[in-house]
Amino acid sequence: MTSTRINKKIADAGITSRRKADNLIEEGRVTINGKKITEPGIKVTDKDQVKVDGVIITKEEPVHILYYKPTGEISSAEDDKDRETVIDAFDDIDARLYPVGRLDYDTSGILLVTNDGEFTQHMTHPKYEMKKTYRVKIDGVLLRHQQDEMRRGIRLSDGKTAPCDLKVIRDKSGKDMILEISIHEGRNRQVRRMFEHFGLNVTKLTRIRFDFLTLEGLKEGDYRYLKPHEVKKLIANSKK
Ligand code: URA
Repeated sequence: MTSTRINKKIADAGITSRRKADNLIEEGRVTINGKKITEPGIKVTDKDQVKVDGVIITKEEPVHILYYKPTGEISSAEDDKDRETVIDAFDDIDARLYPVGRLDYDTSGILLVTNDGEFTQHMTHPKYEMKKTYRVKIDGVLLRHQQDEMRRGIRLSDGKTAPCDLKVIRDKSGKDMILEISIHEGRNRQVRRMFEHFGLNVTKLTRIRFDFLTLEGLKEGDYRYLKPHEVKKLIANSKK
């Protein structure tokens, strides 16, 4: 039988974060099989009965959501400046949800939202190379040879980017341009920085695909639950 650290077990039940679970343990509010514990590192199995403040905990049902994030929302569960976060859209769902990775405040498009830590690992860890496609509007022109350079990989402050797919969707004779770029990395502000590398400003950025998922049928601010076969397929598509 697999064992789990007690703080993970408490977090998986949707009670609080792992870090805050450690505080509950230190405060003596957690029991295992009726015995109070104060050691945060203890491991438990599914057979152990864990209580927090005298109440038995059970694993929260996993929830997987595809959200069409509008611009003007922060991609984190909490904001210290009390600004609107993506999680505010899910106030009526009784689960401890958080965004899978992040999109900038000014970026719209597909954001997965979940309470499933293992799923999140598969979707975000660089080794799994999940492909994400962005539609990018720039207020200038990315020249042919620059497009090729971008496809091969360019040197940013945090290292060279991996080869990517790049397609020109609209080229308005020297004024602005719309492109689609597919990357499997997820560095901070990566797409914006890739265009800034050529002195170009991104004026609109939308994540239009996450692996096989698209925004079809959704308007900005809408969401839908992923179907079990979609969750399975995403996990299967993450490279081992
Ligand atoms: N790349 C960016 O620059 N911003 C995002 O929000 C996502 C990818």
